[in-house]
Amino acid sequence: MSKVLKRDTITVSHLLAAKQVKRRISSVTCYDSAFARILNQTEIDLVLVGDSLGNVMLGYEGTIPVTLDDMIHHTKAVHRVLEKPFLCADMPFLTYHTSEADALRNAGRLIQEGGAHGVKVEGGRNICGVVKALVSAGIPVMGHLGLTPQSVHTMGGYKVQGRGEEARKKLTEDALALEAAGVFALVLEMVPESLARDISEQVKIPTIGIGAGPGCDGQILVLHDLLGFDADFNPKFLKKYANLSDVIESALREYDHEVKSGIFPTAQHSFKD
Ligand code: KIV
Repeated sequence: MSKVLKRDTITVSHLLAAKQVKRRISSVTCYDSAFARILNQTEIDLVLVGDSLGNVMLGYEGTIPVTLDDMIHHTKAVHRVLEKPFLCADMPFLTYHTSEADALRNAGRLIQEGGAHGVKVEGGRNICGVVKALVSAGIPVMGHLGLTPQSVHTMGGYKVQGRGEEARKKLTEDALALEAAGVFALVLEMVPESLARDISEQVKIPTIGIGAGPGCDGQILVLHDLLGFDADFNPKFLKKYANLSDVIESALREYDHEVKSGIFPTAQHSFKD
């Protein structure tokens, strides 16, 4: 069967239906085939090849240096292996702002070359024209409001957004405008719990929160954060479900010791004539 859309792949319709029946949506980021293989053994609904790729995999300080080619490369790796979840890919910095034609061409590459089922864009009313153009070309679009890391320099850091009446009103209006423009879901990042809950009640599309409290219709976390790859990264919103940095470090230390002291390999790991 074609890898474009397997029979039981989760689609936009499933995600919209989940909201209607109040079933929460689980989502994580993923950047490679090794983790995609493990995700296949779970019931996670939505996988995002986030431009957090920059921080998590490529060693950058943020998402701004991530290129469209980086995103396509990693989306392909996930797509080759991932089976059931909806696969969304981030449109990186300045790939959807220069014109609707550029946005269409770039989103098209993420879908056609990368194998993504949809794309995510950051911004509110300022990008509704682009959202409409992508949606009318048949590309599902997920919105992203609140802390939008591609605008970190405008926001003055990675801070909670939507605090105070004016900011709250603006964010709510942006959410409603994105819904009207056709997004199928909306990421709300680092916004007060009550605002995320209000927006979630006002829109018919699912909201997916990160640092936005339990009132959202779903949650997303960066895979490596929830698995505890970085012992020093402990933001308030994060729950670590494992401490893999400790597990990996101790495995590597043991391997190093066994190689240097001649414990590994044994006859059991060696081939006979
Ligand atoms: O890039 C990313 O990982 C994201 C999620 C945090 C929503 O945008």
